[in-house]
Amino acid sequence: MDKLVIDGGYRLSGRVPISGAKNAALPILIATLLASGQHTIDNVPELVDISTTLSLLGRIGCPSLVAEPGGSQKRGRVVIDTTRIAFREAPYDLVRKMRASVLALGPLLARCGEARVSLPGGCAIGVRPIDQHLKGLEALGCRFELTGGYVHGRADRLVGAEIHLDFPTVTGTENILMAAVLADGVTRIHNAAKEPEVADLARFLRSMGARIEGEGTSTLTIDGVPALRPSREPHSVLPDRIEAGTYLTAALTTRGDITVTEVDPRTLEVLVPMFQAAGATVSSGEDWMRVVCDERPQAVSVETQPHPGFPTDMQAQWMAAMTLAAGTSVLRETIFENRFMHVPELMRLGAEIQTRGNESVVEGAPHLTGATVMATDLRASASLVLAGLAAQGQTQLLRLYHLDRGYARLVEKLGDLGARVVRVADDVSVPVGSIQAAEPSDSRAAG
Ligand code: EPU
Repeated sequence: MDKLVIDGGYRLSGRVPISGAKNAALPILIATLLASGQHTIDNVPELVDISTTLSLLGRIGCPSLVAEPGGSQKRGRVVIDTTRIAFREAPYDLVRKMRASVLALGPLLARCGEARVSLPGGCAIGVRPIDQHLKGLEALGCRFELTGGYVHGRADRLVGAEIHLDFPTVTGTENILMAAVLADGVTRIHNAAKEPEVADLARFLRSMGARIEGEGTSTLTIDGVPALRPSREPHSVLPDRIEAGTYLTAALTTRGDITVTEVDPRTLEVLVPMFQAAGATVSSGEDWMRVVCDERPQAVSVETQPHPGFPTDMQAQWMAAMTLAAGTSVLRETIFENRFMHVPELMRLGAEIQTRGNESVVEGAPHLTGATVMATDLRASASLVLAGLAAQGQTQLLRLYHLDRGYARLVEKLGDLGARVVRVADDVSVPVGSIQAAEPSDSRAAG
């Protein structure tokens, strides 16, 4: 296995291009199951979760091709052939690797009237049940049985319904939406998730002929159609606001000057007042955002909320910045019950944090010190990278596979910002101070 070795304490500056959003690409790739034919999706990020999704589609009988970049063709192009569905199943070995495989339920039920999906079970950040997915699909006419760890769903015919979600679950909304597009009549999903990734899925479905209104609001109205067809133009996946937010937060931890490019700044709006309150200067243009932080950041408390609130997927990274801030901040996690596993690891770097229930109180320290750390989930790993970039001396981050699930070309992108970071096999030792900074790119001047 690999580890990341960071010689910390250097200011990061420059521009970093942001990849397509993992959490938009996953449902979009799976939604291709709804229409027979050949689908082309652009701006798909190079991530392990994407390979897992393509393996899932392959097992179902739908081969795909990741096109080599070149010529005028867009980056990250994936072509999927969904002409034939051979198996109506998301097996345990894939769901275990990636919970989002549960998104196959809605499209398979809608297209084939049957789906078997392994129950995802709990994960590092919480119990994560799928009761709301099932409740919504049942309202559309699906029947479920639980056998051998699998949810087995059947539906002779889907009929539009009024669905009230108890919580605006992201993948739950997506699963129900993907089934409702092929139901007879009108479906209304109340208390739907408003996340930009759900809206991107709705746009993609619309490009295939679905009738959907209200994406980005808490009520989605879907007027079912008898069939969908592959969209005529390739769909380009929305930029990843969490990847962008992670790099921008590195400007706080390293007192740097970072510009993220190829982003949609509207999806980053919630972070702007947070960066400003921390003392940073924020500017943005049509497809970029820049954060400059010359002084030690100020402590800023946050509470995670469904969109448009502060994203739970940024909580761990924000905490990394707060460990170095002047003052005390309180981070309250309201979405997942167990999303503080980064706390003991940040404390190994010298952070002062006390956690009680769903609240962590962070006492900012003037500096952190490098250490060996590991994380049990993706965003916790990102937070340790941000802290490691700031910590004096060397930080080694183990269990790198979490980062591979969500951050495309991380070492290359950080290197372009001036970070001293390498990826090596676990048993390789890298002397402190031996990591060279990448050649500075002359396109550094931001925005
Ligand atoms: N919940 C239920 N019942 C359900 C569904 C959800 O109780 O049927 C609960 C969950 O247990 C959790 C809360 O509702 O406490 C929110 O979960 P949600 O369903 O919204 O999360 P998700 O759809 O499983 C997606 C992202 C996560 C992100 C959350 C919240 C994808 C593939 N995953 O998960 O992304 O944290 O929404 O925004 O879209 C990540 O990228 O690191 C990640 C974990």
